Amino acid sequence: MELSGKTAVVTGGTSGIGYATALELKARGAQVIITGRTPANLEKAAAELGVHGILADQSKLKDTDNLVAEVGQRHGKVDILFVNAGVAGMGPIAEVTEQFFDEMMNINFKGAYFTLSKFIPLLADGASVVFLSSNTATMNGAQSSVYSASKAALNKVMKIAAQELAPRNIRVNAVSPGPTATPIMKKTGLDDAQMTQLYDALIERIPLHRIAPPQEIASLVAYLCSDAAGFITGAEFLADGGLSL
Ligand SMILES: NC(=O)c1ccc[n+]([C@@H]2O[C@H](COP(=O)([O-])OP(=O)(O)OC[C@H]3O[C@@H](n4cnc5c(N)ncnc54)[C@H](OP(=O)(O)O)[C@@H]3O)[C@@H](O)[C@H]2O)c1
Repeated sequence: MELSGKTAVVTGGTSGIGYATALELKARGAQVIITGRTPANLEKAAAELGVHGILADQSKLKDTDNLVAEVGQRHGKVDILFVNAGVAGMGPIAEVTEQFFDEMMNINFKGAYFTLSKFIPLLADGASVVFLSSNTATMNGAQSSVYSASKAALNKVMKIAAQELAPRNIRVNAVSPGPTATPIMKKTGLDDAQMTQLYDALIERIPLHRIAPPQEIASLVAYLCSDAAGFITGAEFLADGGLSL
């Protein structure tokens, strides 16, 4: 129970990697708060996990202000901040609309940026921050310009935040998964046949020939949040089965 006594905030904890990480952090003894933007999903996930849920759309700065205020009132400080909420989407540059661009950037980059920014006063000295990035941040896949750019920007902020927060012994790192079995791609509108086609094509290209279960990403995040990772900051960890090799 190496995380006992620690308070953890997981954004986008209602499904996929965020949900699995909330479960893992709780199993290791942390007191966990999850956020989500869909009330029914938040209520269900919080009840299943036995954690506190706070409704917050991370692309809305007002929601983040309210989240920080509520967490501050209830817990006073935060030891673990997992900035995970995100969306996926594909499209060739010639066809990307301003609406698509803004939505993706507002959640994946601006939202993540201000989640960190606004939580900084609440972070305990010695806290751990993890950004959920993506292996696409360092790859050059066609049709992923906006998504990949949102995650590449996040990696840059992670490194600068690690410098700025080091005097308070706050560590900031990024985890970059490859294809992971979560509902994220289905939410882009792909049907079952398209999902199977996508996964089959990816499995063919991944040296380890499989998609990750979200628990494998959660255990890496939990490790980075623990004292065992006490000398690690400003680092990006790829967990992609070798896809980006
Ligand atoms: N799965 C992969 O293959 C993969 C690979 C690399 C990186 N990632 C990254 O991993 C992170 C988690 O994704 P996932 O695969 O676990 O997907 P997921 O199952 O769809 O989970 C995403 C979570 O974020 C929440 N969320 C989305 N937009 C939000 C917003 N504006 N405010 C608050 N919560 C929001 C979702 O809630 P709602 O359901 O209410 O929208 C959900 O709880 C994302 O940042 C994603 O880019 C995923």
